[in-house]
Amino acid sequence: MKFFIDTANLKDIAEAQALGILDGVTTNPSLMAKEGITGKNNILKHYVDICNLVDGDVSAEVNALDFEGMIKEGEELADLHEQIVVKLPMTKEGIKACKYFSDREIKTNVTLIFSAGQALLAAKAGATYCSPFLGRLDDISTDGLNLIEEIRQIYDNYGFETQILAASVRHTMHVVNCAKIGADVMTGPLSSITGLLKHPLTDIGIAQFVADYEKGNK
Ligand code: E4P
Repeated sequence: MKFFIDTANLKDIAEAQALGILDGVTTNPSLMAKEGITGKNNILKHYVDICNLVDGDVSAEVNALDFEGMIKEGEELADLHEQIVVKLPMTKEGIKACKYFSDREIKTNVTLIFSAGQALLAAKAGATYCSPFLGRLDDISTDGLNLIEEIRQIYDNYGFETQILAASVRHTMHVVNCAKIGADVMTGPLSSITGLLKHPLTDIGIAQFVADYEKGNK
C-alpha cells in the first residue's frame, strides 16, 4: 500500500519524507488555507515547493466548478511539475474533466467520493485515483471501510486500473484496516503514519536491552 500524507504543511511533509516510506502528498483548498497559503501565485509556488520535497505524486485540487474552468486550472496545475496530479470534484463536470485529462495522459484524482456508484464513474472516466472519504463517513455513523471494500470488489471484477486512495484517514487503525481490505493508497495526517511506530512492548523491550547492555559493559 502506498502512503500519502494529507497536508500542505511543509514541515510535516519533510518529516514523513525523511522516514523513507512516503509515496506522495494530497492537498485540498482547506488544507492550503490552514497553512495560510492564499493568492494564486503563492498557491502555485507552494505546490512546486511540495513537489521538490517528495518523490511521488502530489494532488493539487482545482477550485473551478465548471468544465472549462476545471480544464484551464487543471492544465495550469499539470504544467507546474511532472509530479502534479489534477484533483477534481466528483460532479458531472468533474467526471467530464477527468475523461479530458485521462485522454491526454494527465494524472487525475477524483475526490469527495461517498458511494460505490461514484467510484465506478471515476474509473470509467479513467481516473488515476479515486478518493473515498473514510473518516467523513465514519463521522456520520456510516461504515467508511465498507465503501472501500465495495469499490475494491467492483474494480477487481472489471480490472479497472484506477487506484483506490483511502482519504480522510484519521488514525492508525484506519490505515491498518485499509491495508487489510486492499486499498491501494491511504492518505492521512502525519500522526496516522508516525502512530504506526508505537507499541509499549517495543519501548519496554528497548529499555530492558539498554539496561542489560549497560550492566554488562560498565
Ligand atoms: C483527501 O484528499 C482529502 O484532502 C482529505 O483526506 C480530507 O480529509 P478530512 O475529512 O480529514 O478533511
